[in-house]
Amino acid sequence: MPVNNELYDQLAWTWWDEHEILNALRILLNPGRFGYFVEVLVDRLKIDPKDKQALDVGCGGGLLAEEFARLGCHVTGIDPSEPSLAVARAHAVQEGLVIEYREGVGERLPFADAYFDIVYCCDVLEHVNDLEAVISEIARVLKKDGIFFYDTINRTFMSKLISIKLLQEWKATSVMPANLHDWKMFIKPQELQAHMEKHGLVHKEIVGLVPATNPLTLINLLRKRKRGELSFKEAAKRIDLARSKDTSNLYMGYAIKI
Ligand SMILES: C[S@@+](CC[C@H](N)C(=O)[O-])C[C@H]1O[C@@H](n2cnc3c(N)ncnc32)[C@H](O)[C@@H]1O
Repeated sequence: MPVNNELYDQLAWTWWDEHEILNALRILLNPGRFGYFVEVLVDRLKIDPKDKQALDVGCGGGLLAEEFARLGCHVTGIDPSEPSLAVARAHAVQEGLVIEYREGVGERLPFADAYFDIVYCCDVLEHVNDLEAVISEIARVLKKDGIFFYDTINRTFMSKLISIKLLQEWKATSVMPANLHDWKMFIKPQELQAHMEKHGLVHKEIVGLVPATNPLTLINLLRKRKRGELSFKEAAKRIDLARSKDTSNLYMGYAIKI
């Protein structure tokens, strides 16, 4: 089934509702991915995030934009979903954060060359029509030595099982909409890295993100969510993604612009 990106218009109201579907991205993914990005930026690369220009490609409702803004970055978020941007703008105001949100797509970034210190694109690359165009645009708007962070989903037997069959197709466990992801659009790390190398992004590291729970507990949590016995928040909290060498489903990493 093809990816339906209009889902983000229809579900935009759920970005900041703790018990609803899109906020599960924050509860499930943000601790693992944002914790990793901060570790790389601050602890390993010794970069002070304060006043750095950061671009969030495919920002949705601003779940990561707000995290980077709280770190002290000047954040710009871009996304094709106007309803998501409206929710993101309203939430930033409510939180007293200054974030610029603009409508657009990763394939055509409306920014000057070499403007940003940090660009991140999380849970988006597997949704875009032209992956190479997005990577080339990200490389173009990054300054020399700027950092690109990402997370996405691998195209493997395991991702077909977890991200498609379990989460989208099997009646008893499918807690996600059937057309959220298309397995064929998932990205092998070597494909992503080839695009990066071609456009001047030197890939530095890849890290897997896997549920801390065992497979049986995972299935059980999904069944309970499906039956309405657990909210998305409770299910996401218990699944608890942890860093791993296993990159067969979710993975993240970073690259540096030369
Ligand atoms: C799963 S959400 C991720 C949102 C956010 N990055 C996060 O992790 O919380 C995917 C987002 O990608 C956006 N999107 C889809 N196609 C895109 C494109 N070509 N360029 C930029 N964003 C896109 C969708 O509108 C949606 O907000």
